[in-house]
Amino acid sequence: MNYFQDPIETCQNIAVIGSGYWGKNLVRNLAQIDALACICDANPVALKKQAALYPNVCLETEFERVLADPTIRGVVIATPAAMHYAQVKQAILSGKDVFVEKPLSLHLSEGAELVELASAMGSILMVGHILEYHPALVLLKDIISHGELGRIRYLYSNRLNLGQVRKEENILWSFAPHDISVICSLIGGDPAVVSAMGGSYLQPDIVDVTVTNLAFGDGARAHIFVSWLHPYKEQKLVVIGENKMAVFDDTARDGKLKIYDKGIEWRGGVPVPRQTAETTLFFDDTEPLLLECRHFVECLQTRSRPLTDGENGLRVLRVLEAAQISLESGGMPVPMAEVELRLPTY
Ligand SMILES: NC(=O)c1ccc[n+]([C@@H]2O[C@H](COP(=O)([O-])OP(=O)(O)OC[C@H]3O[C@@H](n4cnc5c(N)ncnc54)[C@H](O)[C@@H]3O)[C@@H](O)[C@H]2O)c1
Repeated sequence: MNYFQDPIETCQNIAVIGSGYWGKNLVRNLAQIDALACICDANPVALKKQAALYPNVCLETEFERVLADPTIRGVVIATPAAMHYAQVKQAILSGKDVFVEKPLSLHLSEGAELVELASAMGSILMVGHILEYHPALVLLKDIISHGELGRIRYLYSNRLNLGQVRKEENILWSFAPHDISVICSLIGGDPAVVSAMGGSYLQPDIVDVTVTNLAFGDGARAHIFVSWLHPYKEQKLVVIGENKMAVFDDTARDGKLKIYDKGIEWRGGVPVPRQTAETTLFFDDTEPLLLECRHFVECLQTRSRPLTDGENGLRVLRVLEAAQISLESGGMPVPMAEVELRLPTY
């Protein structure tokens, strides 16, 4: 499915639940494609701010009333992560299609239940792994799949900022879903073993900083460094291939995606760096969230499986759970095959 160029027929049958920091962006993009019917937020102050911007859209404080409205086909859930499981479940049981922000839920078992329920009810379930819709990363994935970088040996992703500190989930569950989803997508598979370490400095038992290591079956490795206690914003992904290297710097103003024809060559048993100039790649500058919203609307219309469907969300949860188990054991490597066995019972 081409979610970049194809025009979509729009129909105003989507409700956004939660119009806080991120939900506002979903509202703006869904309004832009004429798909927005309703904004629901439990906080009337948040709603009032939206009323002036979207005078023709219904405003609602009760989630249940949105679910009871037969004209609403899909709900986009942008409430705090701790509410995702209950709200997604309620929405699916009410016969709605759902786009839920990341993470799908805060427990793997709950995520699995939601995926099963969506399948049983014939509902579309999409998870907001926005980077998979980012034109730069779609281009990078294409370049990798055509072999330009050679076999991928190492990747790392830094997602750092000061703020957006959560009280329910830790930094791993808040920031790392993006990195996990994109790294697994670029590698084309899930890690075999995961380990993680971190530190909590602001609230007891909620880590603010984590480094997660992923080991893939073919010898490729990755690490993900996330923090909300960092002096400046950085969102950078580095890919080391056998032939070339790539850097995606989402906070750079220009030249966000670069390919480096660099590597190490062995000459007479001596490792010699090969240095050539980097190439900046240009890509469609459409806002990734707009592409993601269009994709959801298109999936509703065509009854197609979203690129980042519930299964995709569940794969990310499995890696998060493995990392969480490791974190709680002081960094012990956790084989992915054992994640379900080691889960605590909630
Ligand atoms: N894709 C991304 O890049 C990205 C970025 C930031 C946040 N997010 C995700 O978006 C979601 C929301 O995060 P946020 O930072 O916007 O949080 P937020 O706290 O700023 O906003 C949440 C909103 O939900 C509302 N709300 C709470 N309970 C409600 C209920 N029962 N019914 C209706 N509204 C309710 C709150 O009043 C608030 O306005 C989280 O899942 C987060 O992980 C995604």
